[in-house]
Amino acid sequence: NRVVLAYSGGLDTSVILKWLQTEYGCEVVTFTADLGQGEELEPARAKAELMGIKPEHIFIDDLREEFVKDYVFPMMRANALYEGLYLLGTSIARPLIAKRQIEIARQVGADAVSHGATGKGNDQVRFELGYYALNPDIKVIAPWREWDLTSRTKLIEFAESHQIPVSKDKRGEAPFSTDANLLHTSSEGKVLEDPWDEVPDYVYSRTVNPEDAPDQPETITIDFERGDGVALDGEALSPATLLAKLNDLGRKHGIGRLDLVENRFVGMKSRGMYETPGGTIYALAHRGIEQITLDRGAAHLKDELAPRYAELVYNGFWFSPEREMLQAAVDHSQEKVSGTVRLKLYKGNVIVTGRKSPHSLYSEKVVTFEDDQGAYDQRDAAGFIKLNALRLRLLGRRDR
Ligand code: ARG
Ligand code: SIN
Repeated sequence: NRVVLAYSGGLDTSVILKWLQTEYGCEVVTFTADLGQGEELEPARAKAELMGIKPEHIFIDDLREEFVKDYVFPMMRANALYEGLYLLGTSIARPLIAKRQIEIARQVGADAVSHGATGKGNDQVRFELGYYALNPDIKVIAPWREWDLTSRTKLIEFAESHQIPVSKDKRGEAPFSTDANLLHTSSEGKVLEDPWDEVPDYVYSRTVNPEDAPDQPETITIDFERGDGVALDGEALSPATLLAKLNDLGRKHGIGRLDLVENRFVGMKSRGMYETPGGTIYALAHRGIEQITLDRGAAHLKDELAPRYAELVYNGFWFSPEREMLQAAVDHSQEKVSGTVRLKLYKGNVIVTGRKSPHSLYSEKVVTFEDDQGAYDQRDAAGFIKLNALRLRLLGRRDR
């Protein structure tokens, strides 16, 4: 039988590859996704070939545009934030990887898929809910839940006895575990496990320390069409290119660092450090354009739905009817969310400094404290307040 493995080319998934071949007697097909993690992918091909994978069974796909256009942007339309802070950079990538793995399995006639997530985390749930949603009969092999390579030392012994190259820094304990893509880099484990200890500087990989960021602020504009970013400083860009450019700006200005203790779906709390430079700028810009283009009722309903949406993404229910229902509502709300937002980037901060739209609901004529020439009759407010006060007054009379 054949198994499609989500293969990064790193030590852990290389051990998994070999383990699937030797312990399971499977024919392994590798799938390596370019999600903008900023790593060379050709070494993964070379390693897979070295371990006897046939060239036609090595899949390396550039999924960057699909990732941003069909996963990151739809999520950003919803203003999703898990537990109020986390922009879901790892969570949102898993369903796409799962989808592609299932497609490849179909293509090569594999009856199983495998991943390198541990049995303690969220990622196992996200991968596997994705697999089962897209192929109810697929077999899942999760080596971390099955094998007896329960320590780093055993893992490295296994690697060495099977001629898997182990780099020097992997020989000692890895200082922490990371996951990276175009949206974010996350780090967890080891030196980060005590939530009182400050994250050491060397853990940060894609933002400068805000204290060392330029003393001069930088001003940019982002254009939106129907809730999606389409241009930076007036230049039209594809979704992935726009996010990549925002990442460069965010890196330079130290934007998007987050030190968080969060609740994993499996029930434990974990401490992680996230860097989401471009995504942090983008999320605030999207809020900025919604401020003038969304009606209050629509905006406030969105704010109620956003935590629900975020929890679904976090818990791995991307391919679920309830996520799709929320998405339909969110997308409907974005019809007129078009226009331009101006932002200032300065030492770790993103500040909206202007917004404009052909569909703006903002009326200077109505809101002005100067003479509004009859656009708004202040006398209407008296009855509005009186009726709203009615029940408070009845309560007041009764209770005092
Ligand atoms: N806690 C984050 C999430 O569940 C990141 C998980 C993967 N990160 C890692 N460093 N292995 O989305
Ligand atoms: C893992 O368990 O592989 C990473 C952490 C997580 O998925 O939450």
